This record gives sequence, C-alpha cells and structure tokens, in this order.
Amino acid sequence: MKIKAATGDIARIEADAIVVNLFEGVEHPSGATAVVDKALDGAISSLISRGGVTGKFGEVNIVHTFGRLPAGIVAITGLGRREDFNVDRIRGVSGEFCRALRKVNCHKIATILHGAGIGGVELEASAQAITEGALLGLYSFAKYKKPEYENIKEMLIVVREEEIVPILERSINKGKLIAEAVNLARDMGNEPANYMTPSQMAEVAKEIAGKYDLEIKVFDREDIEAMGMGALLGVAEGSNQPPKLIILSYKGDEHCERTLGFLGKGITFDSGGISIKPSEGMADMKDDMAGAAAVMTAIAAIAGLKPKINVTAIIPATENLPSGTALKPGDVLKTMSGKTIEVISTDAEGRLILADALSYAQELGLSPLIDLATLTGACRVALGLLYSGLFGNDQDLVDKVLSAAQRTGEKMWHMPMPEEYKEQIKSEIADIKNTGNRYGGAITAALFLAEFAGNTPWVHIDIAGPRLSNKESGYIVKGATGFSVRTLIELALNEEKSQEAI
Ligand code: BES
Ligand code: MN
Ligand code: ZN
Repeated sequence: MKIKAATGDIARIEADAIVVNLFEGVEHPSGATAVVDKALDGAISSLISRGGVTGKFGEVNIVHTFGRLPAGIVAITGLGRREDFNVDRIRGVSGEFCRALRKVNCHKIATILHGAGIGGVELEASAQAITEGALLGLYSFAKYKKPEYENIKEMLIVVREEEIVPILERSINKGKLIAEAVNLARDMGNEPANYMTPSQMAEVAKEIAGKYDLEIKVFDREDIEAMGMGALLGVAEGSNQPPKLIILSYKGDEHCERTLGFLGKGITFDSGGISIKPSEGMADMKDDMAGAAAVMTAIAAIAGLKPKINVTAIIPATENLPSGTALKPGDVLKTMSGKTIEVISTDAEGRLILADALSYAQELGLSPLIDLATLTGACRVALGLLYSGLFGNDQDLVDKVLSAAQRTGEKMWHMPMPEEYKEQIKSEIADIKNTGNRYGGAITAALFLAEFAGNTPWVHIDIAGPRLSNKESGYIVKGATGFSVRTLIELALNEEKSQEAI
C-alpha cells in the first residue's frame, strides 16, 4: 500500500472513503469531523444522539454519502476516552479502520491526522502511528492461501497546511520502514518449520545484510564445534537440519567502541526433544524463533534509519527434535563459557542455546545485552498473552527498555530475580542444571541465563505470551505478532539521543 501526505479539505477529497474520528462521549463533533458532519446534513450528529456512533475505542462506523461528498463512504472511527488516548491508540485505530474499509472494497482511502488536534499528539508521531497501524493491521500471511480481501492500494493522510507535508512524509517513511520490519518478523514466524529451517534463517539474514549493507557471518556446525559451543550443539544433535550461528552487525558510529548486543532464540521448531511435548498445540512451536526474527528484522530497520550507534545481533538457530542421536535427560553439556550444564529436560532448550550465545556476545565485547526469547510456558501462565516478562541485572538498562516499550505500546512487565530461587537450578554433578521445580519457571529460566550474562548489563525478555495472537485487534492480526521489534528499534534510536547528550 502506498501512503502519502496531501493537503486539502478532507470533505473534498476524491477517494473511495474518507476517515474522521470521535472521542468517546462527545456529543457534538468538532474539527474535521464537524465539517464532514455538516456536509452530510448532520448525519453524524444524529447517529451520535441515537447511540449508533459512540466513539468507543476501535469502533468503526461506515456511513454512505450518496453523492453528498466526492468520497462514497465516510468512516467514523472511535478514539476511545480522551484520558486514555495515546500514540498506541492511534496505531490501533488505524489498523481497525483500514481493515473495516478493506472489507467494503475500498482501494483508495484518505484520513485526517488522528490525535494531532485536540488529542495533543505531535504531528510526526501521529503520521508515523497511522502508517504503522495501517501496514500492521492489514498484514496477512498470504504465501500458501489467497487472502480473503483485496488490499487497500493507497492511503492519503490529509492536512490543511502545505508546509507540514515534508515533515509528514518523513514520518510516514519511518513508520513504513518499521512496519515492514515487524511484518517480515511476522512472515518468518508464520512460515512453517519445514521452510523456515536454520539454513533458511541464515538465507533471510543474508538478504537483510545485502539490502541494508550489514556485516554478516554465518557459522556452520564445524565452526560452532570449534568455538566450543556444546550447549547449542547438544540441542542440534537430534535434528538432521544443521545448526547455524548467525551474526549481523550494524556500524553507525565508527568512532565508538560500544556496541549494543541483541540476542534472539532461534529454535525453528520445538518438539521438546526426548522430553517431548504433548501434541496439542505443538504446531505453534514453529514460532519458537520469534526472538531471532525480532532481532534480525529490528537490526534491518535500524540500519535503514541510520542512528549513530553500533548494534550486533546474535542468533543461535537450530531445531529441537527427538531422534537416536538426540540429547537425553541427564546428559551433561560443556558450554563455551567452560561451565557445565546438566540437562534435566530437553524441552528447556532455549536457555541452552542462549547460554552459548551470551558467552559469544561477551567474547565480542558487546554491551549492554538484550535477549529476546519464547522461553517459558510459565511466563504465559504468569502474565497472560499480552505481556512479556522482563528480567535484568542492571536497573538503568531495565528502565531504558521499559520506557522504550511504553512508547511503542509493547507490554513488558518487570519480573523479580530472587537469589533464593537459584537453589532450584543447582546440580549435583554439573555447575548448573537446566530446569527448576514447577514454581516460578520464568524466573528460574532467567536466573539460569543470568549465570551466562556475567557482569555485563543485560536484559532478558520472555516473549512466549505475546509472540502469537489468536485474535484480530487494532494493529494486531492472528498469528505471529512481531512483538518486540518496535521496542528494539525505539531503544536503538534512543541510545543515539542519549549518546549525543554526553
Ligand atoms: N518454547 C518453549 C516455551 C513456550 C511454551 C513458548 C509455550 C510459547 C508457548 C520452551 O522451550 C519450553 O519448552 N519451555 C519449557 C521449560 C520447562 C521444561 C522447564 C516450558 O515452559 O514448559
Ligand atoms: Mn522447549
Ligand atoms: Zn522452546
């Protein structure tokens, strides 16, 4: 879909549909909505008074204009309560009205700049959010099945002043780049595991590197062996698909030694291994590489936006399958760090591959480190499907990530890491074991990773809950969500700002 800024009076725009808005509880529309209401002889006011239009968040009412306006349809979108309004709501509203208008065969639509008037949101933020919401909300994974509806071809964001058009164009381009990164992460997550193998992940990484001029290194099984990554190798043992360790680097600041490290769990299918999972819901385990997809696509968008910072992404990728050569409960693995791990459950494989990735990140001197992983079912039990669990060993970094997440609307909840629970992962025969008891499973997983993060400032985000959605809502559609891509990008852009301040 093409998205452009345009000037004019929204009521006079030639398009299949124009979009105006309303806060919940408002009885008399103002601004552009009032202008359109007038052109429709008060139809909107009358719908409001009869309760047909309420302004509730996510509501989209379609009104046909029958020749009163150049556009055939007016969509009135609800912004929700004024006190709850924020940039993320603009994203949600945009996703909703785009899907509603797609359903009624609109190809060209025009919208006002939601929230930039009485909503109090900056123009740039609004244009970016409308763009992101539209592209994310209209996403579908169309590789193996024709989508139900034809997509909207063009959206105009209409303002009155000519001079702000270039500003809006910049924000639209930024939003586009970010949404495309999220949608690529969604494609990777939705892609079945027979296609999205570790080798295929490496191919996608190569494409990204070529397109955005990133440094890339793909390590094969022999390299991984030579580096002593016994934990990554151990998990890969059960599969015929060769493991890969993928490194992507963006250098935006040659003068600075400091390089941010993003790590992503890249299990392209998690059957549980010998500790096999129940078959119900196992198909969803094709998305156990959501963390890997997030870091790969975030670094791509960062390279497109060119902040003056350095970022390296590390992706350990393998399948987790049972076989005659597979890792067994009770096996002991020797990691790159030299620490030994007793494997109690082969289904706690994410922390194994991340242990080696964390050691490698330290060898490269990356700091701070942020890992993204669909790590535990326990995190879903604790926080549900909307919230990820965030853990860390450095309060400053935790605060930075949380505030970036606040701005993107991606829900992250800071979780505790009590020393006492470390007791649970003590092994009789190795330095550590890979599972604790049944209580606090997301926490013991984080405590395990912390052992391999050492003294480097580090944050771990368990995205097992929000990586998939089972329903359409706002800019989220069913399937892989691309959760955390936008927060990683926001964090990188913010790092640039804070470095400038020094
Ligand atoms: N990939 C799973 C975690 C997961 C579960 C993600 C459900 C999304 C939805 C992970 O590898 C796993 O199997 N974890 C185990 C750990 C346990 C054996 C300690 C779990 O959560 O059951
Ligand atoms: Mn598992
Ligand atoms: Zn897993």
